[in-house]
Amino acid sequence: MRLHVKRKISKITRLVFHRRCLLLVLFVSTFSMISVFYLVQWNIICFNIDIENRLNTLCMEYNEGKAFGRLCEPLCNNGEISALSCEPMHKGKFAVFTALWNNSLIVIKSHRVKSEYIPLQWIASNSSEVFPNYEELVEMVTQSILANFGMQKENLMNRLYPFLVDYHNDVSRELMINLWQLSQDNEYVTLMINQHSHLFPKILSSCGTYYAVEYAKPISRLNIYSDRLEDFVSRVRQAKLMLELLDELQTSFVDPIHICDVKLEHFGLLNGRQVLLDADTVFPKAVVDRSVADGRECWKHSDCDLFDCRSLCNKVLNICDTPTVNNNLQTVCQKIFLDSGLLISRHLPLATSRLLRDCANPNFSQGRQIAPVQFHYQIANFVNEFLNMVALPQNPDE
Ligand SMILES: Nc1ncnc2c1ncn2[C@@H]1O[C@H](COP(=O)(O)OP(=O)(O)O)[C@@H](O)[C@H]1O
Ligand SMILES: [Mg+2]
Repeated sequence: MRLHVKRKISKITRLVFHRRCLLLVLFVSTFSMISVFYLVQWNIICFNIDIENRLNTLCMEYNEGKAFGRLCEPLCNNGEISALSCEPMHKGKFAVFTALWNNSLIVIKSHRVKSEYIPLQWIASNSSEVFPNYEELVEMVTQSILANFGMQKENLMNRLYPFLVDYHNDVSRELMINLWQLSQDNEYVTLMINQHSHLFPKILSSCGTYYAVEYAKPISRLNIYSDRLEDFVSRVRQAKLMLELLDELQTSFVDPIHICDVKLEHFGLLNGRQVLLDADTVFPKAVVDRSVADGRECWKHSDCDLFDCRSLCNKVLNICDTPTVNNNLQTVCQKIFLDSGLLISRHLPLATSRLLRDCANPNFSQGRQIAPVQFHYQIANFVNEFLNMVALPQNPDE
């Protein structure tokens, strides 16, 4: 009798254990599936098969005469571009992947899914679709560049679309749609109008809404994050290059350029200089000012921000009416030198550490004031003196 009860108890225990195991397995697999879904959805991880699908669609469009540009042949037909691999951690663009083009590394990007661009045509009062002619398209692109980038350029169409000459004067409706879509891609436009600047990678060519840019090794991949002296020296070198880049953004344009999405992975190394890799939210100050002080309703200061370009909420009227209050140096001190740890080290003198904190949070403003230019000089002084003092040979990779 006792044996029977014992056996029954053990059977029940096994059953409960099995059930628990089953529940645990179910829970873990559901949780993993949801995590993978979101990791893919947010482009934190990516699969190369996605690139293939996207390129198949693009090349189909090219073969149907709906995608234009000098990247189409090497990408779709003559096999010059190979070994594609997707870039994880991109959160804005529809596609970002690296590839080999005649043995050189390139990055291919596209801003949005086609259906998300503002259409070229509009609806007339009699409900019919109206397409602009080429002259009207030129005017539309000119006005859009003026509004979004605050600039008027001579010969704008040829600067933005070097491949236009290949089509002589035969600008079809499909080609106009392609041009209009590219004009809505902030990064494409910023890079094209700054093709001769060494602050951005160059655009090599485009196909449809995809464009190829020079590869610039992201400094986040430089493997310099131990606190050995030579690694800290490498980080200080990167800080020096970053200060030089900020200086150029401030001084070599009519209106200083603001980087509104400051992240370590958005700075890359190209020909010994640092360049900006993600130009989606890189604008002249006047454009940022207009965007953050656009009179929208607000309840807290961050309601008025354009990512890292910060503003203030007018708490009396509850509207955003203040132009940008911080600057590139403040954000870089906060997000790169401190938060990302580029200059965090036991080798950093205490006074410099205090200087970086003041630069990140000028006058205890929660990052809502500009970091004054003397901070730039003081950090640059530290960097130069430190590099002179240690004078270690440079890693050829940097
Ligand atoms: N020209 C480039 N060279 C090398 N890596 C790049 C380049 N452009 C982008 N990347 C890498 O790909 C990542 C995603 O690209 P990014 O333009 O930032 O996309 P998103 O706008 O979606 O954030 C970047 O954070 C960077 O590390
Ligand atoms: Mg990015």
